Amino acid sequence: MRKKIVAGNWKMNLNLQEGLALANELKAALAADKPNCDVVICTPFIHLAKVADVVAGTVIGLGAENCADKEKGAFTGEVSAAQVKSTGAQYVILGHSERRAYYGETAEILKEKVNLALANGLKVIFCIGEVLEEREAGKQNEVVGSQLADSLFDLTEEQLANIILAYEPVWAIGTGKTATAEQAEDMHAFIRGVIAGRFGEAAAESISILYGGSCKPSNAKEIFSKPDVDGGLIGGAALKCADFKGIIDAWK
Ligand code: 13P
Repeated sequence: MRKKIVAGNWKMNLNLQEGLALANELKAALAADKPNCDVVICTPFIHLAKVADVVAGTVIGLGAENCADKEKGAFTGEVSAAQVKSTGAQYVILGHSERRAYYGETAEILKEKVNLALANGLKVIFCIGEVLEEREAGKQNEVVGSQLADSLFDLTEEQLANIILAYEPVWAIGTGKTATAEQAEDMHAFIRGVIAGRFGEAAAESISILYGGSCKPSNAKEIFSKPDVDGGLIGGAALKCADFKGIIDAWK
C-alpha cells in the first residue's frame, strides 16, 4: 500500500514567530485528532531548525522548499542538502514550478539537486506540471513525461523509493482554478505509467503521487478519492491551520 500524504508548502510566507505559531497550532490539532495520512510541512530555511524542535516526536514531518545543486563551499546564499538534513528535516521539495520559472532551474540542475538530496538521506518531493499554453495545446503528457525522464530516469529503483511526486499544473497554482478530479486522475495515471515503463510495475504501484494547485478543504475529498491520487501538496491553504487540517481530514 502506498503512502497517503498531505504536505504543506509555505513558500516565502510567515516570519519565524508566525511559522512557529502555525507549527504549534498544527501540532495541537493533530494531537487532538490523529490524521489518517502522513503530514509534512515544508518551510523556508530559516524556520527549519526551530520547527524541527516543535514537531519532534509528533506525526508531523518537516521539509525544506529547495536545496543547492552543489555539495558545499563558496556559494554565497545557498543552502546545501546536508545543511537541510542537519536541521532535523526529512524532506525537500525540488523542481517546484516557481523555482523552474523564476530561478531558471533546468532538468540538469534538478538532477544534481535530487542526487545530493538523496545522498544526504532526504526524501524528495519532486514537482512536475505543465503551463496553461501546453495544456491548451494538448501537450501536457509530453511535457510531464519529459520532466520525469530528464531529471529522474537515471535514478536506481532504490533511490526512487525515496521520491514522492507532486503533479502541479502551473495554471492551477495560486489561481483558485483547480484541475478537475478527472484531469488530476488522468495525469496521475499517466505519470504512474511512465514510472512503470522505466522502473517497473512494483515501483510505479508504490510511489506516492500528490496533486497540487488550489487544493482546499472543499475540493480535497473529491480529488483524493481518485485511485491514482495519493494526497496533496498544498500552498495557500497550508498557511491556516484550520484549512490545512480540513484537507488532512479529507482522508477520513
Ligand atoms: P496553491 O495551493 O496555493 O495553489 O499552491 C500549490 C503549490 O504550488 C504547492 O506547492
